[in-house]
Amino acid sequence: MKMTMFIVISILLICSTLADEVYENSKNVCQKCKCGGEDEFILDCSDKGFKNILANWPAHDKTLVATFSHNNITTLEILPPSNHTVRLVFDHCNIKYLDPGFLKEVKNVEYIDLSYNLLTTEEIDGEDFKGPYNNSVYCPIALKTLNLAYNQIHSLPRKFFESMPSLEELNLEGNDFVTLDPNTQMALSTVSNLRVLNLARNELTELVGDAIKNLNNLVELNLSSNRLDFVPETLDYLGKHLKVLDLSDNYIFELRDESFLGVNSITELYLDNLPRLKTIYVDTFANLPNLRKLSLRDNINLMSIDREAFGINTTLQELYLTNNSLMELDHKLLKWSNLRVFELKDNLLECDCNLFNITRDLDNEITRRLDGPTCVDPRTDASRQVYSLTEDICEVKSTRASIQHAMRHFETIRVILITLTAMFTIATFLAVMIAFLRYRRGTAYRNYNFTTQVQYNPIQNQYI
Ligand SMILES: *[C@@H]1O[C@H](CO)[C@@H](O)[C@H](O)[C@H]1NC(C)=O
Ligand SMILES: *[C@@H]1O[C@H](CO)[C@@H](O)[C@H](O)[C@H]1NC(C)=O
Ligand SMILES: *[C@@H]1O[C@H](CO)[C@@H](O)[C@H](O)[C@H]1NC(C)=O
Ligand SMILES: *[C@@H]1O[C@H](CO)[C@@H](O)[C@H](O)[C@H]1NC(C)=O
Ligand SMILES: *[C@@H]1O[C@H](CO)[C@@H](O)[C@H](O)[C@H]1NC(C)=O
Ligand SMILES: *[C@@H]1O[C@H](CO)[C@@H](O)[C@H](O)[C@H]1NC(C)=O
Ligand SMILES: *[C@@H]1O[C@H](CO)[C@@H](O)[C@H](O)[C@H]1NC(C)=O
Repeated sequence: MKMTMFIVISILLICSTLADEVYENSKNVCQKCKCGGEDEFILDCSDKGFKNILANWPAHDKTLVATFSHNNITTLEILPPSNHTVRLVFDHCNIKYLDPGFLKEVKNVEYIDLSYNLLTTEEIDGEDFKGPYNNSVYCPIALKTLNLAYNQIHSLPRKFFESMPSLEELNLEGNDFVTLDPNTQMALSTVSNLRVLNLARNELTELVGDAIKNLNNLVELNLSSNRLDFVPETLDYLGKHLKVLDLSDNYIFELRDESFLGVNSITELYLDNLPRLKTIYVDTFANLPNLRKLSLRDNINLMSIDREAFGINTTLQELYLTNNSLMELDHKLLKWSNLRVFELKDNLLECDCNLFNITRDLDNEITRRLDGPTCVDPRTDASRQVYSLTEDICEVKSTRASIQHAMRHFETIRVILITLTAMFTIATFLAVMIAFLRYRRGTAYRNYNFTTQVQYNPIQNQYI
């Protein structure tokens, strides 16, 4: 009897420790974690030292929002069942492995945040995200948002999205993509409902056309903090629907009429922190008739914007030009009265008539701000508020503009000089070469003592 008791107790003990190892005890979970919410059931188990997930959800009769940020869950096991809509947050959890079908019991999962974990390409595959099995097929899961930011993924498996036909938002920021390889291209070609794609903070040098050409509903694309040298031409594929484009913090050095040729649906464009950008050329934004918001901030070498950078029909409403190296801004650049937001602080502006005219056109809401942009008065070298310039500035002949003009002139002269020098060098070189060859041939003939003996040579004869 005692023996049986002992065995039963031991088995119970073993079972409970085993169970504990696989799942966190979910009894009284609302004492350990925070439970609450009105329209949704919110379960917040952040930073609770969990090594596993719960064995069961607390009872809920509405959308479940479960947060497990900052735990230490090496393997994300199959989540406990729920028939309700579920939103899950597992950021900063040291997750390395996903159990196959870990979402199959929560097929109404709509949102999952797996950012800041240790997932690699090798550890994620289509199997991991598959839905419940029913009549020999896997049902899809309802996932709309998948956040895999800040993991170690360099490629997506071909069938990665097979079970997520409703996916609308994919975040791959801060991973290890150097290129979008054929597997990734195949994978992305299957998510045609995708609306938002974040590829920021990877190491992309180009945007492969085959990766994006099936994204027929993409509205927002974030390519900031990559290694792009140019505005990718392949954006053409998205030209009818893309609205928001972020190309900030890249190596892009040139913005010209062809840069945005095929993407005329864009309404918001971010071109901040492009350290190699110096000039924005004529018609750069002329092909963007829908552009409402343009951000051009922190471009430390951006000195000028062509006065015809925008098309005549531009409908721009928000323009951010903070912290560049702009020396002047042409009054003809824009219809300034259309702007609702305009920022120009931290540039190298010289006070001139253009700035006065711009101020006159701008909405009062903008110009009445007292902490507006400043410029340097060429008469006194003192800093002045752009928005309180007076008409007398129009009498001043700009020194810096003329210096700039002279510098541009000098630049032209320099180019001409360099070209001439190069041409001269090449000509001299050729002349010397020809002279040398002639000389060599001359001496060769003169030193050729057997000419008479080889006179029968017909080729040689031609030369004699
Ligand atoms: C997380 O868990 C792993 C193994 O389960 C352990 O090696 C590691 O030290 C834990 N880290 C923290 C921060 O607790
Ligand atoms: C979910 O729904 C199925 C069938 O409708 C039912 O059998 C199952 O018990 C439900 N699961 C939960 C956790 O309520
Ligand atoms: C399983 O599939 C059948 C048809 O193949 C469908 O009628 C049924 O609703 C499915 N069950 C679940 C739980 O999705
Ligand atoms: C693009 O991603 C960067 C990095 O996370 C972020 O700062 C920026 O706001 C994003 N751009 C847009 C338009 O959301
Ligand atoms: C201006 O931009 C540079 C380069 O991006 C950055 O380092 C600096 O902090 C910015 N300055 C301000 C005042 O934002
Ligand atoms: C600008 O708008 C006018 C009138 O709407 C139109 O006739 C003209 O073609 C447009 N110009 C450009 C460059 O789009
Ligand atoms: C400024 O506006 C005045 C009056 O409208 C005009 O005569 C002048 O040419 C303009 N100057 C510049 C530089 O825009």
